[in-house]
Amino acid sequence: PAPGWRIDADVVVVGSGVAGLTAALRCDAAGLRTVVVTKARLDDGSTRWAQGGIAAALGEGDSPAQHLDDTLVAGAGLCDEEAVRTLVTEGPAAVRRLIGTGARFDADPRTGEIELTREGGHHRRRIAHAGGDATGAEISRALVDAVREGRGGRGGLRTVENALVLDLLKTADGAAAGVTLHVMGEGQHDGVGAVHAPAVVLATGGMGQVFSATTNPSVSTGDGVALALRAGAEVSDLEFVQFHPTVLYLGADAEGQQPLISEAVRGEGAHLVDADGVRFMTGQHELAELAPRDIVAKAIMRRASEAGAEPGTEHMYLDARHFGAAMWESRFPTILEACRSHGIDPVTEVVPVAPAAHYASGGVRTDLHGRTTVPGLYACGEVACTGVHGANRLASNSLLEGLVFAERIADAVASADREGAEGSGEEATPASPIPATDAAHGPGVTPLLPAEARPDIQRIMTGGAGVLRSEASLAEAAARLDALPAGTAHKPADPGVETWETANLHLVARVLVAAALRRTETRGCHWREDHPGRDDAAWRRHLVIGVRGAGR
Ligand code: SIN
Repeated sequence: PAPGWRIDADVVVVGSGVAGLTAALRCDAAGLRTVVVTKARLDDGSTRWAQGGIAAALGEGDSPAQHLDDTLVAGAGLCDEEAVRTLVTEGPAAVRRLIGTGARFDADPRTGEIELTREGGHHRRRIAHAGGDATGAEISRALVDAVREGRGGRGGLRTVENALVLDLLKTADGAAAGVTLHVMGEGQHDGVGAVHAPAVVLATGGMGQVFSATTNPSVSTGDGVALALRAGAEVSDLEFVQFHPTVLYLGADAEGQQPLISEAVRGEGAHLVDADGVRFMTGQHELAELAPRDIVAKAIMRRASEAGAEPGTEHMYLDARHFGAAMWESRFPTILEACRSHGIDPVTEVVPVAPAAHYASGGVRTDLHGRTTVPGLYACGEVACTGVHGANRLASNSLLEGLVFAERIADAVASADREGAEGSGEEATPASPIPATDAAHGPGVTPLLPAEARPDIQRIMTGGAGVLRSEASLAEAAARLDALPAGTAHKPADPGVETWETANLHLVARVLVAAALRRTETRGCHWREDHPGRDDAAWRRHLVIGVRGAGR
């Protein structure tokens, strides 16, 4: 549809989680006319749901080098080491700047220093947290307050809420020129319109809603990855979807956002047990319950299958009764409340847990300044693939990635702006030492789909491309996804937000399945039943995908 309203800016940031708001505040501080557009309200993204915390080498005896080592191990041979080095080296100062913006982390009452906890894959206590288990909510509050109070500084930051991004606007020579948006109920900007800007920052978050059960909120529908694909940008590593091992198990039919039981609960000493109360992670990995997430998720699935669980019903139990009521109430109030609201009291009972889709380690391919393969288009946060996560993200590295790379993008946009159009048109090729393989036949662009197709997509993906995959399950998922548009009578006459979201989910689902089919090995969070081993000779490479007919 033709845009009915227009805003002109130097930079438009799409998304309002930790990455989007950090980029926007810093662009504003650099004097750029900055517009933030966000699909729902400013604080409605994934950031505010983050529990465990934000990882950074802040503690005594810790160092960026040790954080780097743990990140590389979790990433199972696919992290780009320079990107990780950037993350862990710039991370501590970025967290301190976040504190300067107003985020209040929990402090040790004796020393006044930031209190640090542990999570899976970390050999040290390096996770800063806030409000016990409400870290993301506090970070979101601090950043939203800074935006609303105009604390970025100089350029005059504007926000447009309830604005679903549709597509990238491009110049005749293929550079980003802004975005089209569909706004519902924003008053002065209702309907389809556009923000014109030579720099576009995607910070739209993840795609967890592509699966039936996920820790992600309903807004996480892969919009940024879909937009980037349609615009001709490359995406990478999409097959690496992290399933969080301990999500409250609410039955085989549970759909939508599920309550997370933070890894920090295990970090503070909770045990994973089977139905007989037997711990099963000891002896499997030197870190036991705190092994990297893929290892814990696989162990839960295996133990449940051995115990005869039907596919889809696999779950185990988390035992933290020894914490006692006082610790539960002070350290994990959000989780305690979530469990109790579902009739489970973790103070007196074991908590049923199962893996659920949690985090997209892949995304829109960028260099170390967040530049994608389309000039002027940047990406940061979960939507991006900077190379820091490899085949499996280390716990609590994602808020940090959002912070560090958003700051780098703001600096790159500001310097491109100073250098004029020539600078902003610079195209990036991620300087990864790990080779890239073109998945060659990425699927074509998805047509608009009616919202009713959404649960079908989610069920197909959970059944065929979930924790455990095989050629047969993935091929069936691909065929069923391809058949969906044909099964829908017509293109919706008046596409609304849900129609666009469903098309986005369908496109990212098809690309994800194409990548997962292609990667014939098991690595990190990509688990192929028919290729159970890691194959470094063939597969120590990134899978890079574009879609046919995109970017025109
Ligand atoms: C958690 O609290 O377990 C989630 C942290 C993360 O996903 O990084």
